[in-house]
This record gives sequence, C-alpha cells and structure tokens, in this order.
Amino acid sequence: MEDFIKAVIFFCLVEMALLEPVPDLVIGRTMKDVEGAEFYAIDVIGLGEMMGYKVEQHNITTTDGYLLKLFRIPDSPKLLNQTKKKPVVFLGNGMAATSDVWLIRGKNRSLAIQLADEGYDVWMANYRGTTYGRAHVKLSPDDRKFWDFSQHESGIYDFPNSIDYVLNVTNESSLTFIGHSLGTTTIFITLSELPQYNDKINLLIMLAPVSVWTHQSPLRKLGPVFSNILQNLLEPNGTIELIPQSSALPALFKRICFPNNIFDLCFLPFDLLLGKDHYQLDKKNFVAYNCHYPAGVSAKMMYHYFQSMESGKFRQWNFNNDFDNIKHYGQSEPPEYNLKNIKSPMIIFYGHNDPLSHIEDIRAFIKKISSKTISEPVRFKYFNHIDFVTAIDVKKLVNDRIISRLNQFKNLSLPFLQV
Ligand SMILES: *[C@@H]1O[C@H](CO)[C@@H](O)[C@H](O)[C@H]1NC(C)=O
Ligand SMILES: *[C@@H]1O[C@H](CO)[C@@H](O)[C@H](O)[C@H]1NC(C)=O
Ligand SMILES: *[C@@H]1O[C@H](CO)[C@@H](O)[C@H](O)[C@H]1NC(C)=O
Ligand SMILES: *[C@@H]1O[C@H](CO)[C@@H](O)[C@H](O)[C@H]1NC(C)=O
Ligand SMILES: *[C@@H]1O[C@H](CO)[C@@H](O)[C@H](O)[C@H]1NC(C)=O
Ligand SMILES: *[C@@H]1O[C@H](CO)[C@@H](O)[C@H](O)[C@H]1NC(C)=O
Ligand SMILES: *[C@@H]1O[C@H](CO)[C@@H](O)[C@H](O)[C@H]1NC(C)=O
Repeated sequence: MEDFIKAVIFFCLVEMALLEPVPDLVIGRTMKDVEGAEFYAIDVIGLGEMMGYKVEQHNITTTDGYLLKLFRIPDSPKLLNQTKKKPVVFLGNGMAATSDVWLIRGKNRSLAIQLADEGYDVWMANYRGTTYGRAHVKLSPDDRKFWDFSQHESGIYDFPNSIDYVLNVTNESSLTFIGHSLGTTTIFITLSELPQYNDKINLLIMLAPVSVWTHQSPLRKLGPVFSNILQNLLEPNGTIELIPQSSALPALFKRICFPNNIFDLCFLPFDLLLGKDHYQLDKKNFVAYNCHYPAGVSAKMMYHYFQSMESGKFRQWNFNNDFDNIKHYGQSEPPEYNLKNIKSPMIIFYGHNDPLSHIEDIRAFIKKISSKTISEPVRFKYFNHIDFVTAIDVKKLVNDRIISRLNQFKNLSLPFLQV
C-alpha cells in the first residue's frame, strides 16, 4: 500500500514535469550538431565514430512495408588488417529501445564494441515504431494504421526480414543471435512461427528471456490492472505511439528527481516493473541514457506483454472479443505459439532479481522448447531486468561471460555440444 501511494505521488510529479515547458530533444551525429542543446542524443553512427568505430547503416523494407534501419560494425580499429572471415552476431534489443543501447555504455562497457574487438561482424536490428523504424512505404506515423502492430508482426517480419538481409550481405548461412528482453520474445515468435529460421541461427544467447508466465508475482497481478486503465484512457486497440525518444523523462529526472533528492521515489515504478537494484544503477549517466531510451513503441506491442502476464500463456494478440478472434484465428482464443519449434542451441542468462524473467518461468520455458540449453544466473544477487544494459559492472557480470561462451562455442567446447 505504501508503495502504491508513492507511485501515485510519482505520477503527480510526472504531471508537474509535463506542464513545465521542456526544450525538445536534439538528435545529431556529432557534438557540433547538438551544440547548445540542453537535452541531446548522438545517433548510433555518431556514437561509434566518437569511439573510433565505423558504423554502417543498412536499410530494409519489411514484407508488410515498414522501413527499418539496421546498423553494422564490420571492423574494429584494433583488428584492422585481419583478413579472416568474421562470424556474424546479430543483436536484438529490448522494448522501446534502439541499437543505441548497444553503444551508449562507452568504449569499455558496450557489448557491440567488445564483440567487434573480439573479431565479430556485429549487426544491430531495430523494430518498427522506434526512432530507426518510423517510416513505411505507404503509411505515416501520423496514421493509426501505422501503429497497428503487436509483438507478432516484429516476430514474423522485422526479425526474419533483417536476418535474411544480413545473411545475404555477409554471404553466411547462419548467424549468432543475442537478444535482450523483447529481443528474446520476438525471436521466440520468429522461430515458433517460421521454424526454417532455426537453420539460420547457429546459437541463441538470451538475456532475461520473456515468454511464458508461470511464477505468481505482484507484478503479474498489478500489470494487467494498470494495462486496463491505460487501454481505457488511451486507445483500447493500442494503435497509438507510446514513449517516443524525447526530453520528457530526462527532464523529469534532471529538473525534479535529482535536485529534490527524490530519486528513489521517482524510480519506484521502475523498481516495481524491472526489479530494484540501486547498487548497479548508473546514476551519474542516467539522464544521458534516458535521452536514448525510451525511443518509441506501439501501445499494442506493450499491451501484448500484459495480456501474456494475465493469461500466463505465450500466444498471439487477443482482440478480447469472440468476433475478432474468430475472424483472425478461426477460434475464440488466440493461438499459442508452438515453442516446440525452437531448436537452435540456446544459452540463457538471467538475473536473480528480475520480475519479468523469473527462474520459474525460465524453467517452464525450457521444458517447452526443443533446444539444447545452458542457463546461468548473473553472479550478482540484485541483478535486475535492465541491468543487462545499464549495470555499472555490466562488462564483468554479463559481456565478458557472453564472450567466454562465444569462445567456447567457436572451439566446440560448450558443455551441451560435447559428445
Ligand atoms: C541506407 O540509407 C542511407 C540514407 O539514405 C544511405 O546513406 C545508406 O548508404 C544506405 N545504406 C545502404 C547500405 O545502402
Ligand atoms: C594495417 O596495415 C597498414 C598498412 O599495411 C599499417 O600502416 C597499419 O599500421 C596496420 N594497422 C594495424 C592496426 O595493424
Ligand atoms: C577504459 O578502461 C581503460 C583501461 O582499464 C581505462 O584506462 C580508461 O580510463 C577507461 N575509459 C573510460 C572512458 O572509462
Ligand atoms: C558465397 O559463399 C559460397 C559458399 O558458401 C561461395 O561459393 C560463393 O562464392 C560466395 N559468394 C560470394 C559473393 O562471396
Ligand atoms: C542476395 O540477394 C540478391 C538479390 O535478391 C541475390 O541476387 C543474391 O544471390 C543474394 N546473395 C546471396 C549470397 O544469397
Ligand atoms: C479497434 O479495432 C476494431 C477492430 O479492428 C475496430 O472495429 C474499431 O473501430 C477500432 N477502434 C478504434 C477506436 O479505432
Ligand atoms: C575453448 O575456449 C574456452 C573459453 O575461452 C577455453 O577455456 C578453452 O580452453 C578452449 N578450448 C580449446 C580446446 O581451445
């Protein structure tokens, strides 16, 4: 109850913050582009350049017409004259995030940079509806129809179309997929619905995977209630944009939460949703990170998670009425994704303090899939959902572990591959 009251106070603060005029977020490629701006973000190409890494932009059109930007770090300044063919890794980030999250931690802590230095050809995907996916061959982001997508469409179009493009450009037959949060949910949809993609993914590294919900937690009870309120207030169909990349959140923290010493209060909603870990919270860079994240999502894509929490099932979008469900699916309940179709070998990393990816849910998930699997907890008691990107010690706790597993995979010494 106390937490609830605090959450209400927080929302009043958000209101206050929104009433005050806040200068727009300026997005640029160089520091010169953003000179004088109070709130700014350097784009992913600029972030790479500032650290001495060339980032290429690639452009794809999905089967259903969305124009998405894919980014690639083909090389590292540390390995310039290496002629060896590089293995391809493909990164899929979390909800409302973009490729930026793989580079915002700087040279020493960004996974994309570490992978490039290790000799990988690094590709970073982006979802429809984010800063790097706000265009369509026919629709404009001002159209309701543009925002008419759940996790399903990213699973059957955004990822498979991007993977095919990458395999084509690199002339490789398969790649290693590393995903965080929604990145895991989405690739699970891809592999369940389009099982031929198992052959195109030689290894899945899943950070805080989210699919089935068996564990009973306060979040699972409160989440759908919150979602219902949101759906009634905004748009029941979810065909609108939520949380675009903007100065709103950075301004709230910079102007209200930090100066008034009420950071803990402001952070409460995140603690409830993502798990409380203020030890690994990078407060110093928090406002800067929030200029990159969030960066846009359809309400429908977010509601899809709340539907899963409520049903406990990993299944397609629920229209919540028999007529539409029967029209789309030929049955009154949305069809479940067939997780048995997932076959690519998988390594799972999970946090002990992550309400969105609880060990009980992971165990239930592993029982349903066909993959050979290794799961390993992050060696920090309070590690939460977002720590996989923003933890102070992310290099040691996560990135170095990923690279060590990749090395084992390269030399065929991963435990599950041993004969
Ligand atoms: C993608 O589009 C951008 C902007 O139009 C262009 O500069 C870039 O060369 C394109 N990438 C490729 C690989 O064609
Ligand atoms: C790569 O080769 C060029 C020309 O041969 C040389 O000048 C440069 O130092 C080399 N760079 C590295 C990182 O080895
Ligand atoms: C990165 O790590 C190196 C070596 O540990 C250190 O000298 C350097 O200051 C670090 N750079 C940043 C930006 O933290
Ligand atoms: C692509 O790879 C195949 C074999 O995997 C090879 O025969 C072909 O020449 C390659 N194509 C290019 C353009 O490198
Ligand atoms: C890539 O796609 C082009 C155009 O569809 C095709 O001609 C080419 O053979 C493909 N390359 C590979 C390596 O699959
Ligand atoms: C919501 O979606 C349904 C079914 O697609 C449609 O009939 C209805 O008009 C939509 N409602 C709004 C407010 O757009
Ligand atoms: C394979 O890589 C792992 C991790 O780097 C290393 O510990 C192991 O010694 C390597 N094994 C072989 C046979 O090279």
